[in-house]
Amino acid sequence: MQEARCKRQEAGGKLIIAIVLSMAFALTACAPPEVQQAQPTVTKPAWKAEVISLPAPRLDSTVSLEETLRRRRSVRAYADEPLTLEEIGQLFWAAQGITDERGFRTAPSAGALYPLELYALTDDGLYHYLPQGHRAERRRLEGRRTALCRAALSQDAACQAPVVFVVTAVYARTAAKYGERAERYVRLEAGHAAQNLLLQAVALDLGAVPIGAFYDDQVQAALGLPADHEPLYLIPVGRLSR
Ligand SMILES: Cc1cc2nc3c(=O)[nH]c(=O)nc-3n(C[C@H](O)[C@H](O)[C@H](O)COP(=O)(O)O)c2cc1C
Repeated sequence: MQEARCKRQEAGGKLIIAIVLSMAFALTACAPPEVQQAQPTVTKPAWKAEVISLPAPRLDSTVSLEETLRRRRSVRAYADEPLTLEEIGQLFWAAQGITDERGFRTAPSAGALYPLELYALTDDGLYHYLPQGHRAERRRLEGRRTALCRAALSQDAACQAPVVFVVTAVYARTAAKYGERAERYVRLEAGHAAQNLLLQAVALDLGAVPIGAFYDDQVQAALGLPADHEPLYLIPVGRLSR
């Protein structure tokens, strides 16, 4: 009798421990820690590219945040004029620039795991942003604009903008810690980065539009992206046509 009661108590104790452990696991699986060392694993594009330094980003502005918020509108037609390397670099920086010596960036990231990889396609090539050192890999690519335009269902903005930014994500970086929850986190992060870029475009007096309607596989093929750099957003950017 006594023995049976002890066994029941022992089983009850094990059950409580199991519940506490599973609650702790669920909490850590869902909640990003406040601070974590930011060291994303880097999956590199297979292609060879020259690494260039981007001009140092501008860190202040005469345009207020409130004004950029008020002025932001999706712009789908642009003047026929290229963007400068300085502007391209500034837009990359706004989306994913490093702003802290511990590696933290302009946009928040679940667990500071930084799954996003950013690209920009121009008439003279493809830029892949390297946040460390504010640099970019540049690959000379010709004739890809048409393929990208088709991948985006021939939307005028994607076909005519002098630069199309592509926000891609390596889901595995976030999934390694957060499992299935990563899908949600990565998409939220793409939204943060995209909004930063859109607001920066306003502050630079440029026009931009976020595009979600495109064929993922065709975008990857057009740019020769690694299979695990999955496109989430296209953001054509250009000068305002006055
Ligand atoms: C997730 C998402 C996907 C979008 N996809 C497209 C798109 O494929 N093509 C497009 O022209 N605009 C696209 N937009 C822009 C919306 O059409 C636009 O934000 C909306 O009309 C409101 O206008 P506003 O951005 O000027 O405030 C998208 C916006 C979001 C948030």
